[in-house]
Amino acid sequence: MIMNSLWTLMRRWLDLLSRIKARVGGSDTEFGTRVGIAWSARCKRGGAIRIGDDVTIQDGVILQPAGGRIVIGSHGWIGPYSVIDGTGGVTVGDSVLMASHVQVYSYDLGYDDPDVPMRCQDHIGRGVTIGDDVWVGCGAIILAGVRIGDGAVIGAGSVVTKDIPSFAVVAGVPARIMKMRGQGERVLADHRA
Ligand SMILES: CC(C)(COP(=O)(O)OP(=O)(O)OC[C@H]1O[C@@H](n2cnc3c(N)ncnc32)[C@H](O)[C@@H]1OP(=O)(O)O)[C@@H](O)C(=O)NCCC(=O)NCCS
Repeated sequence: MIMNSLWTLMRRWLDLLSRIKARVGGSDTEFGTRVGIAWSARCKRGGAIRIGDDVTIQDGVILQPAGGRIVIGSHGWIGPYSVIDGTGGVTVGDSVLMASHVQVYSYDLGYDDPDVPMRCQDHIGRGVTIGDDVWVGCGAIILAGVRIGDGAVIGAGSVVTKDIPSFAVVAGVPARIMKMRGQGERVLADHRA
């Protein structure tokens, strides 16, 4: 009993310290209530980070606004070692579940000019929007400019290069629609590329 209370107290302190650390690391942050940020997660400097209520940010997560803006809704879970880059702006809806090692990048690097090192070419920011109640499987990569509709499921290891409609279940590289939620196992041939 006493041990449980001590443990709860310690967890609260650790949560508080993690939030303070995140705020110190990021230049413009706003967090709602019950936001748990693992000690090893990083909210990087430059740009804005907004997080709603009741959100868990797991070990090793990196939120790097990179001069842009990362907005995460309420009741979400960002899995271990996920990276969200906000250069072109990233909006994550409510109740979004990201598994581990998810990567969301809202910029591309210009590469057209062969005479200029690519590191010196433009960063082309294009916003990413992830709707409400989306489940992003482990290791999925979501590229710049993509909009993912509400209720979609992104399979493990997918690379999402194009918009995904609401309630679609997608998988693969590049991600293709396998089926729609709520329609049993029926594969929607129309949606196959
Ligand atoms: C996308 C997913 C939800 C689909 O699950 P499902 O509806 O049970 O689909 P099935 O397992 O019946 O697979 C259907 C087909 O898609 C393929 N498939 C399933 N997931 C895939 C994936 N991530 N990438 C590529 N192909 C995949 C299967 O091999 C199968 O192909 P087949 O018809 O040629 O045999 C699931 O496979 C997945 O990726 N889940 C994420 C797991 C995860 O990240 N867990 C972390 C905990 S949060």
